[in-house]
Parts: sequence; C-alpha cells; structure tokens
Amino acid sequence: MSVSRRSLLMLTATATALAGLRPRTGRAAAVSDWAGVRALFDLNPERVHMSTMLITAHPRPVREAIERHRAAMDRDPVEYLERNDERLTDESRAAAARRLGMHRDNIAIVESTTVGVGLVYGGLKVREGQELLTTEQDYYVTHESLRGLARRTGAVVRMISPFDRVAQASEAGIVARIAEAITPRTRLVALTWVQSNTGLKMPVAAVAAHLAEVNAGRDEADQVLLGLDAVHGFGIEPDHLAGLGCDFLMAGCHKWLFGPRGTGIIAFSERGLRAVEPVVPTFDDSGVFSAWYAGQEERPSNNGRQMTPGGFKAFEHRWALAEAFRLHEEIGVARIAARTRELAGALKDGLAGVRGVTVVTPRSERLSAGIVAFRAEGVRSGAVVRRLRERGVIASVAPYPSQLVRLTPSIINSEAEIEAAVAAVRASV
Ligand SMILES: Cc1ncc(COP(=O)(O)O)c(C=O)c1O
Repeated sequence: MSVSRRSLLMLTATATALAGLRPRTGRAAAVSDWAGVRALFDLNPERVHMSTMLITAHPRPVREAIERHRAAMDRDPVEYLERNDERLTDESRAAAARRLGMHRDNIAIVESTTVGVGLVYGGLKVREGQELLTTEQDYYVTHESLRGLARRTGAVVRMISPFDRVAQASEAGIVARIAEAITPRTRLVALTWVQSNTGLKMPVAAVAAHLAEVNAGRDEADQVLLGLDAVHGFGIEPDHLAGLGCDFLMAGCHKWLFGPRGTGIIAFSERGLRAVEPVVPTFDDSGVFSAWYAGQEERPSNNGRQMTPGGFKAFEHRWALAEAFRLHEEIGVARIAARTRELAGALKDGLAGVRGVTVVTPRSERLSAGIVAFRAEGVRSGAVVRRLRERGVIASVAPYPSQLVRLTPSIINSEAEIEAAVAAVRASV
C-alpha cells in the first residue's frame, strides 16, 4: 500500500498532537492523590526522605524535560540554543511570574537562592552610614552578603533577635522588635521567610505593612527595602509577591518546588528594581548587549532580564523550570500548602510525645511551614541524624551554631512515613 507524503505528514501531525495531549491528561489524573505524586519520583522507597530543604529529586515531568533538551543539545548545541533559548527561558520566567502574581519582566532566573541573595545584596545602592537590618537567626548567605556590602559601601549591618525564645514567638512580638530597630538610616530589612534552623516562618506581610507606614514620609533613596530569602516558603506557601510586600524575593527552585537542580529566581518589586545594579552582565535580550554593541553609554532601565546573570548555562535545567511550575499548578497551590501543613503538624504532634525531645518549631501554621526542628536531651544532633539514617530516615543537622535536627515533611511523604519517622526518633534518642 502506498501512503502519500501528505497523508504521512498529517498522520505524524495528529500523532504528535495526541502525544502532546496524552501526558497532560494522564498527569492531571496521576497527581489527584498523594501516592500518584510520589510515584512521579524515582526516590528509593526504602528510605523516608525528609531533607527536601537541602536538595530535591526530580519528578518525572522535570526529568523528561531535562532529558529532551539535553538530547537535543547534544545533537546540535548551537542551533538548538539559538532556536530555543529566548522562548524557553521566557517560559520559565513567565511560569515563575504566574506563581507570584506579577509581571515576567520583574523576574530574574538564577542558579540558586545563594546566587540570588548575592546578586541583590551585592548590587544594592546604599550610602555610607545607612543601616542594613537583619536577624541573628538569618542564614550565613544573608549575613555574609550584607557583611560584604557594608565593607564595600560604608553601610552598617545591625543584627537583632526578633524573639527571646522561638517557642514564645508571636507575630506581633516579631513585628514590634523589628519596628524598634528601625532608624531614619535604615535602608534594608533582610529576612528569611522560613528560618532553616528553627523552622519559624516570619510574618513577612505584617513586617511589610509596618515598613509601608515608615516609608510613607521618606524619599525613595531613604526608604526601607524588604529583602527575603524565600527558599523554604517558595513551593509551599501560596502567597503572591504583592501580598508579601517585599522588594526582593530570592528562592532556589531545587528544594520545595521540586524544580531542576541548579535553578532559582529573584522576584523584584518596581522599587526593588530601581534600588539595585546588575553585578553580572546579562546575556538575556534586554537592550544591554545591543547598547554595548552600538558603543552607547546609556543603559535601559533595570528589569529582571538585566538581573539575570549571563554566561552559558546548564540550559536544559533552566528550560525545564517551566515544567516544575506546571506540575506545581496541576497538583494545586492550595492543596500543596494544606498537605505540607497537615504532615508537619502530625510530625510535631508525634515528636512532642517522645521523651527527651523538644520541638523547637512553633506548632502554629501561621508561624511555621514544612521544616520541623527539634533537639534531643543528652544526645548530640549529629548522633541523632546518624542513628536516624541507620533506620532509613534522611534527616539533617542545621548548619548553624544551634545545631538542631531537622525533618522536612513535604508532598512526597505519606502519613505512614510520618509515623515511621516518629518511631525512628523514639528509638534514636
Ligand atoms: C535559608 C537558606 N537559604 C539558602 C540556602 C541555600 O539554598 P540554595 O541551594 O538555593 O542556594 C539554604 C540551604 O540550603 C537555606 O537554608
């Protein structure tokens, strides 16, 4: 039987269209229950994986997208890059913008939270004597970036503790401590959304509301900007950027979002964009390269593309980022938040019943997310983590002087795994 070229082309087009549709339909059904979500991961079923806060495994759609792009790059790196980079990077940028309810031009694509924090605080326009306020509980990455900024500019880092003890922390108390520490010279408040030592979720919107009052009487160059290391809230919490009220939100996508390893974003408010300079020249289409090419001194006003560091990248990971957001939407933003809270709550309740264990993370869902931190009386945290690993539970020690043990229930975990983790802790302390 002879088949005409035309009908072959039509058959191919129909098959391609159907192939494009099939996974989407099947996928939406696949994630309608949590066992289906877990089945998207190749995780070793003999382990209870509760260190999502460190580095993720790739779910199948992300894995497949990376593999698709990798294979095409290996076949024809230059032409595949030329044909696709602008469109695919923009899809990743648009997907992040959709999640945060903002314009895609205000999103920079970076490699990690650390790179985002370094770029923002490294490029912040501050004057000598202005104050950079942060907390003792913030992470090394924020502290070191601010220290460098202060050294280069003559600005001053001020550090406070927003509570005496985490267990007694309250939203009003935290806002009051930050409010007390703000002076006419404060230029930046740099916070971590969910602290990775204590698991405490900062009341970011309430802090932002206070800063809006402070800023009402100030010139823009003197206004207090709000920067957020958002990595342990992003992928769990449903907030939009405007609701949080921050000027810079830096988040790796390779933890709670289950995105490609080596990806992250910075989301900027309009004021935030005006307050920073790009540190690494971009390769994105933003008018900067063409200005250089034409020998012009003037640069276009800042945007997320300009804040996206240039250089050739692990493009297959960057381009697969849109797929992670798509999966996140298919599972459901509100569902993910509710599930994470439910599992974290069950874990805290279970741990609270273990003799010798003190749960440090607040029980309140308003003051916590997916990180559950605890200490065990008379046993070093490193020893607890080692014993948990021997029992198949992957926990971690916080890289802070306080050295708490952390477990991180997320949408890859089940109720049975929460019970198994509690039993393993009981046997390890
Ligand atoms: C608060 C905080 N910020 C940043 C990081 C580093 O994240 P990334 O790998 O995205 O740079 C971590 C831990 O890995 C963290 O706990």
